[in-house]
Amino acid sequence: MEQQHLTYKEMTDFGCFYTPQKFIDKLIDMIKLNINDYDKYIYLDSSCGYGAFLKSLYPYKTIGCDIDKKAIEIAKKIYPNSEYYVLNTLNNFTRKSIHLEENDKLIIIGNPPYNDTTSKVKNDIKKASPCVIDNDIKTRDLGISFLLSYNKLKPDYVAVLHPLSYMIKKANFELLNPFYNNYRLIDHCIINSQEFNMTSRTKGFPIIIALYKRCSNGLKYSDVLDMNFKTIDNKTFNLRHDYIRNYISKYPSRYKRYKNGDILFFTMRDINALNRSRTFIEDFTDNSIIIEKEKFAYYCYVDIFKDYINQLPYYYGNCDVFINNAEFTVIKDIFITRSIEKHPWLKQKISYKTDNRYELIDKYFQKLFNV
Ligand SMILES: C[S@@+](CC[C@H](N)C(=O)[O-])C[C@H]1O[C@@H](n2cnc3c(N)ncnc32)[C@H](O)[C@@H]1O
Repeated sequence: MEQQHLTYKEMTDFGCFYTPQKFIDKLIDMIKLNINDYDKYIYLDSSCGYGAFLKSLYPYKTIGCDIDKKAIEIAKKIYPNSEYYVLNTLNNFTRKSIHLEENDKLIIIGNPPYNDTTSKVKNDIKKASPCVIDNDIKTRDLGISFLLSYNKLKPDYVAVLHPLSYMIKKANFELLNPFYNNYRLIDHCIINSQEFNMTSRTKGFPIIIALYKRCSNGLKYSDVLDMNFKTIDNKTFNLRHDYIRNYISKYPSRYKRYKNGDILFFTMRDINALNRSRTFIEDFTDNSIIIEKEKFAYYCYVDIFKDYINQLPYYYGNCDVFINNAEFTVIKDIFITRSIEKHPWLKQKISYKTDNRYELIDKYFQKLFNV
């Protein structure tokens, strides 16, 4: 059932985008496939909304919590067979809060809210921090805090949906170290965020339906880089690419001072951010990278890559721009020519060799993107 009782602003603050049933079914199939005695566990959804996950786990023992009293009232009506608590599960939340013993066999399930308070999307309506969060799990993203809160309850398994970026972006992975030190991914499946109602206003990003098992040697970032990910429609991908960060700096340098004649480029984040942002810019701002002229071709590469993003599957949205450097080097003059055609004011700032064989760029990206 779709969330109905909150305004769009309230929904964004608390990350209240309810999960489509087919993804709940997929998660439960994964549990049944991988855990032999799955009927012997207590299932906890600590951000349960209307209790869609709990309802789908009938007849097993379930507990649902939510900070939203109204949601819990509705959950009780829809599925009275579960225990419920109105609780902020990011604040002093322990097994005791829901009357569980330390040795109760526990699986945490659900779809916690994701709400990156620093991200640009919908920032105008997001609050910096919508609820009190314990210091040891406080981060800039509500979803990361939720994963950290699970670790404190020491469940045997964690079976949840979360943005793939929590795992594949090194900075996020490091924030999640306390969790990943104790949990290993034993099954997963990647889906497109656009399949959630309401969030489809921007380009989709990958969400992982993840089944984690508690163990003493958890997940390392090097394991993630080696992983083969699979999507719900049976495509596979991995992160073993060569990335633009190996050739140029993605962020402004604190040490460089802007001089007349410098060429400026907008800060680069991931592919989805590049899709929304500018590339070459004329006026200096805090977000400007002052480029090294001998690296100019690589910036043209990013500028042209942006034009091909719509051909790239959604699951690369949180990756850096990738590159086949050997092939690019052979045709870099074509990238420069095309980029200068897009930004004619660059002409006075750089000398270059015109090469108009644009069809070679099409071919390059077809091969790089595997399309
Ligand atoms: C993405 S919804 C998921 C709801 C449900 N699990 C589903 O998928 O249909 C996230 C839920 O988290 C709840 N929530 C947000 N912050 C919370 C907090 N600090 N403690 C408990 N629940 C919270 C919201 O009220 C919302 O119902």
